[in-house]
Amino acid sequence: MGKKVTVVGAGFYGSTTAQRLAEYDVFDTVVITDIVEGKPAGLALDLNQSRAIEGFETKVVGVTTGPNGEGYEAIEGSDVVVITAGLPRKPGMSRMDLLETNAKIVRQVSENVAKYAPSAVVIVVSNPLDEMTALAQLANQFPKNRVLGQAGMLDTARFTNFVAEALQVPVKSVKTLTLGSHGDTMVPVPSKSSVNGRPLREVMPAEQIEELVVKTRNGGAEVVALLKTGSAYYAPSAAAARMTKAVAEDSGEVMPVCAWVDGEFGISGVYLGVEAEIGAEGIKKVVETDLDADELASLKEAAEAVRAKQADVANM
Ligand code: LAC
Repeated sequence: MGKKVTVVGAGFYGSTTAQRLAEYDVFDTVVITDIVEGKPAGLALDLNQSRAIEGFETKVVGVTTGPNGEGYEAIEGSDVVVITAGLPRKPGMSRMDLLETNAKIVRQVSENVAKYAPSAVVIVVSNPLDEMTALAQLANQFPKNRVLGQAGMLDTARFTNFVAEALQVPVKSVKTLTLGSHGDTMVPVPSKSSVNGRPLREVMPAEQIEELVVKTRNGGAEVVALLKTGSAYYAPSAAAARMTKAVAEDSGEVMPVCAWVDGEFGISGVYLGVEAEIGAEGIKKVVETDLDADELASLKEAAEAVRAKQADVANM
């Protein structure tokens, strides 16, 4: 049977994710849902009308859902469900300011996903990311490998872009890595970053690396401040769509994602940004990237910071 993916939430993040997934032309069906009457159906209609031009056969289906699970039968049989539901930041807000509002939304969505798509892999992108990923798993009770979050792909892409711009080299020649949380305890990993195969630290002074690290950490906020309404979606949706494709194709690609960490790096029992092999079962394996002592210390700090917050969401 062909592959089916659902994107929950038809805001800019959800709709651009659905578009990218449809244009890959590897799915039979992309379902997009929202609580707004008509919006997902309208987007689906519009996207399907682009098929002849963009040349994809994937069918997009748009469904409005209700608070008691109305409409959710449309997601039945989904191999992957991407949860984008929730509010984005306003200028000046931190991702953490969204915690209580989005917790209610993500919990409700996750319970319905558990009911209607019990064998799906769930990719969470709602903010605050690490906490919403933990909450989704608490609410749907799926095995922890089947629930993961999107953040590292995005933060890494931002870091890579900033390095490429600063050095005026093609993005292709730059490799970077960020681990940790999608927030204040984001952990950039210069020791695993390179330009044309040369260690980043050899081609860029330490202060400039630090400057770009700060810019990466503030990457989302900078976009929010300019947009004034809503948050970033082109880079975020590119990241989420690639992860979804890796699951659907059981590719085994290694990607920085928010995954359940159980002993790796000496860290246990927390959802955290790490590198992992992605496949049909979600997380195939967390990759224990070889880190410098200071990077490892930062990752452990990040783990403790998100552990405290993740404990809070259990009761939300
Ligand atoms: C960002 C939001 C989507 O980083 O978390 O842009």
